[in-house]
Amino acid sequence: MSMSTLSADRINKIIDSYSADRAASLAVLQEIQAEYNYLPREALEQVSERLEIPLSEVYHIATFYPHFTLRPRGEFCVRVCMGTACHVNGAPRILEACERELGVKAGGSTEDGAFSLEATGCMGACAQAPIMMVNDEAHPQMTAARVPDVVFECRCKLPEDK
Ligand code: FES
Repeated sequence: MSMSTLSADRINKIIDSYSADRAASLAVLQEIQAEYNYLPREALEQVSERLEIPLSEVYHIATFYPHFTLRPRGEFCVRVCMGTACHVNGAPRILEACERELGVKAGGSTEDGAFSLEATGCMGACAQAPIMMVNDEAHPQMTAARVPDVVFECRCKLPEDK
């Protein structure tokens, strides 16, 4: 999943597609998040200006909904479920293995921007606990021992310069 470069034109097009209607602010932010995989600060400023909504209000929406993020996520977003079923089945060890393997703490991204690591609440697949996701790909009944292999497979998919 490669991210588009931030473009004021592209954001204006998204805003125009909702006729710069302030009632559509949530939908506009959703499209921007889908496009860039996060909500860049410049984009929030543009939304605020064009929809004539105070920037603080735009930030409020952007931080209220958990699927929005204000920081760029890595090319590979690794999420480890820490819900109850996953927790009792070894999720903390999986998260530790990810932190070790990637050299970042949960909530962080690797310096090259290739990976981000998140601990999440229940993903709704408790029967397959513990669950780890890499972008949209689920790894059911995950184990800490399999973490290095999964990370290695991701690294193989990265362009040479990463
Ligand atoms: S607790 Fe992990 S999927 Fe429900």
